[in-house]
Amino acid sequence: MKRNILLLIIFAIASLLIILRFIITYPNYTPVWKGREVAFKYGCFNCHGFEGQGNIENPGYRYRQIPSWQGETAMMFILSEDELKEWILYGKPKRLQNLELGGVIKMPAYEKIISEKELSDLISYLKAVMGLIKIDNDSAKIGYEIAKKSGCFGCHGPYGMGGMPNKGSFKGYIPGWDGKDFKDLVRDENELKEWISDGKIKRFEKNPIADRFLKKQIVKMPAYKSILSEDEINYLISYIKWLRKENF
Ligand code: HEC
Ligand code: HEC
Repeated sequence: MKRNILLLIIFAIASLLIILRFIITYPNYTPVWKGREVAFKYGCFNCHGFEGQGNIENPGYRYRQIPSWQGETAMMFILSEDELKEWILYGKPKRLQNLELGGVIKMPAYEKIISEKELSDLISYLKAVMGLIKIDNDSAKIGYEIAKKSGCFGCHGPYGMGGMPNKGSFKGYIPGWDGKDFKDLVRDENELKEWISDGKIKRFEKNPIADRFLKKQIVKMPAYKSILSEDEINYLISYIKWLRKENF
């Protein structure tokens, strides 16, 4: 009898631990991350290249290749957020309805199959990947350019808004800087500096569980201290603060 009760208690504790682990490691995907998944699901990358990088030929098309989502193309094809929506819903915005550029591959109309939530996440993603988000702070703007040339966005997502998958990491992805996970990883400005300079923080190294995940994750945060000056790191911090609306 006593043995049964003991077993029951052990079973209850084990279940609780499993549930707790599930809650703690439950991923908080940002809109930009979700938008990328929507783009993948609806085959946008088939024609526009991964992350809209382009380089897909379209025989007979005026501009030879299907327009990319990066560089100058957005300015030519899209004047407003409404037009971006119209491209997705109708295959072309109203303004360009009579413009025929040829090409065997045509932009589909998604009006009948895309949900409102999916469209909203997709727009968040497209605005980030197309560079349409305006930065209204001078130091943050410099920080953004430093992040771009330092390769940060390859891992943390466009504008640092979403991250990429990371096998073996705590939640399965590299967190964006605008997400809910940020506060668990960065308590204050010193820790933010530590992450960028050393690629890790002392608080996690001292914690056996966090340390295990830091070492186990397949893609690791690089240490930038030999590459970036203190000023450059401060500009990066201004940018991250701007992105989070100073919410530390
Ligand atoms: C079958 C290939 C194909 C698929 C799939 C496709 N597109 Fe397109 N898309 C095109 C082509 C071709 C154009 C250029 C059309 C033109 O010039 O009339 C275009 C144009 C665009 C444009 C305007 C030009 C630019 O690149 O800025 C946007 C934005 C766009 N597509 C977004 C999307 C999104 C979002 C999806 C997925 C929901 C998607 N496309 C799926 C072929 C495709
Ligand atoms: C090769 C991929 C990679 C690159 C490039 C990279 N990081 Fe990271 N970054 C990571 C990983 C992995 C973590 C750890 C996340 C964890 O332990 O959950 C991380 C963590 C961080 C954190 C902790 C908080 C958070 O929410 O992400 C910050 C801040 C950060 N990186 C900033 C930067 C900056 C700034 C740059 C460019 C100067 C950069 N990273 C470049 C992979 C990268």
